[in-house]
Amino acid sequence: MAYILIEHKGHVVQLTINRPEGLNALNREVLQELFDALDKLEGDLTIRALVITGAGERAFVAGADIGEMAELTPKEAQAFSRFGNSVMQKVAHFPVPVIAAVNGFALGGGFELALACDLRIASERARFAFPETGLGITPGFGGTQRLARLAGQMTAYDLILTGRRVKPDEALTLGIIGEITDAENLVARAWEIAELIAERAPVATREAKRAIREGLDLTLEEGLACEEVCFGRCFQTKDQEQAMSAFLNKKPIPPFKGE
Ligand code: COA
Repeated sequence: MAYILIEHKGHVVQLTINRPEGLNALNREVLQELFDALDKLEGDLTIRALVITGAGERAFVAGADIGEMAELTPKEAQAFSRFGNSVMQKVAHFPVPVIAAVNGFALGGGFELALACDLRIASERARFAFPETGLGITPGFGGTQRLARLAGQMTAYDLILTGRRVKPDEALTLGIIGEITDAENLVARAWEIAELIAERAPVATREAKRAIREGLDLTLEEGLACEEVCFGRCFQTKDQEQAMSAFLNKKPIPPFKGE
């Protein structure tokens, strides 16, 4: 893979969007490679958390590739949006938690990639914006839907209609990111969070992510039914049995095996 670097250590995998000369802009090849990498990794039960970041010091991802979009017909543009959305859905529905480590510009498609992740942290260099309406288009990789769901309609209207850049302190206030870290420590901090997640019961973690993620698209009644199924599935695992038994016997909870 030329554009996606994969680093796998212990139970954590990091994907780095690696096209720094173009500020990691998402052309078709980058998008396809990202999709393929996720597709390959999603069946690996040893993975317990995923980190996504951008190569270089300037950008997480500076958007979808404008050069590739410039000449699209309306029909081709709709298909491109569908393709981008399928990649973002692959991120959102990746079976284990995905953490975006936003190290610089997260513009347009880059903001949308971060929004498709479950957790977002950012360095002080991060800048979030939706420049699209200033280029004669709308966000097309899920931004109109995910930002409104995450941060509310007011923030979605504000950022998408004005295109203004948001610095990390405001992104934190708006609930777009969870934490701000020094640029030098950003990826290490993302791994620290990933490893905290990885220490916990793997099946329970996957089911918890599924319940939250799927619940976002459901009514409360349907979401609660989804939660009940996820909760029930945890009781098929040795990890649940052993952890609860250790607790009741006042013994240390043994490391989780994912079974
Ligand atoms: N699509 C295609 N190429 C992009 C890109 C994008 N979204 N974002 C950056 N690049 C390319 C630039 O064309 C440039 O390539 P070149 O060296 O071959 O000319 C390279 O990345 C570096 O960017 P440059 O614009 O020279 O850096 P800068 O520091 O002057 O500005 C940005 C940085 C991020 C402000 C500016 O690149 C920008 O506005 N990018 C587009 C952001 C955007 O609108 N994204 C949403 C698209 S819908």
